[in-house]
Amino acid sequence: MKLNVHFSPAQTDELYFSGKTSVVIDVLRATTTIVTALFNGAREVIPVNSIEFAMKVSGNAFGGQTLLGGERNTKKIEGFQLGNSPFEYSHEVVAGKSIILFTTNGSKAIVKAKFSENLYVCSFQNIQSVAQHLAELNKDVEIMCAGRVGSFCIDDTICAGKLVTEIQKLKEDVELTDSSKASVVLSKSYGKSIQKILAECEHGKLLIENGFEQDIAYCAKLGGMEIIPYFTGGMVKILSKPRNNEFHG
Ligand code: MLT
Repeated sequence: MKLNVHFSPAQTDELYFSGKTSVVIDVLRATTTIVTALFNGAREVIPVNSIEFAMKVSGNAFGGQTLLGGERNTKKIEGFQLGNSPFEYSHEVVAGKSIILFTTNGSKAIVKAKFSENLYVCSFQNIQSVAQHLAELNKDVEIMCAGRVGSFCIDDTICAGKLVTEIQKLKEDVELTDSSKASVVLSKSYGKSIQKILAECEHGKLLIENGFEQDIAYCAKLGGMEIIPYFTGGMVKILSKPRNNEFHG
């Protein structure tokens, strides 16, 4: 089993992912928000790569049970019901709903990896379940960090490194590419205070400037929402049921 990390989606094109097993990570905040929405009972999350497409999808389908969510420059988009803060995706708001999600990096990264044979969504909150599932699947894995507008970002890379480490704990014969090894080193250096590094990284600072300080602490939480979000037919759904029904909002 070989684990490879992509520091940003800009490194590869869509066809690279054909037939692969992939994981997308956007800790701040898209994949944390997707995990929260599904954990809190959303039927599915439909990631899209343009606002126009989000509008089109919401107009056409799902019998009025849709909510448009996401951000531009960290803020809610005009005409959308929800922004991209995980706190907005409570059980009361999202249960039974289909969420169409557009974000600057995260939703686009998922769409980019759509030709994968298996595609999962990971955040710090569900890292154990994703690691366990991948170890059992025993296939090579492409871990894609959503990054920041085509560039490296440390928050996603630390989460990728932690995912690699968790898989290594469960399996002996794991081969790491150079990028995987680098992500593990970063994760070991900074992983003891995830909240601190999230607050100090470029995207964290931007979120704090825009009033989302609470989101940083939330996105830094390890475990608690152990679900496996799986992309199929253009939608992200839960592959396995939550082990408990607690709301961690
Ligand atoms: C993204 O996809 O770039 C982020 O989720 C943006 C954000 O944190 O609002």
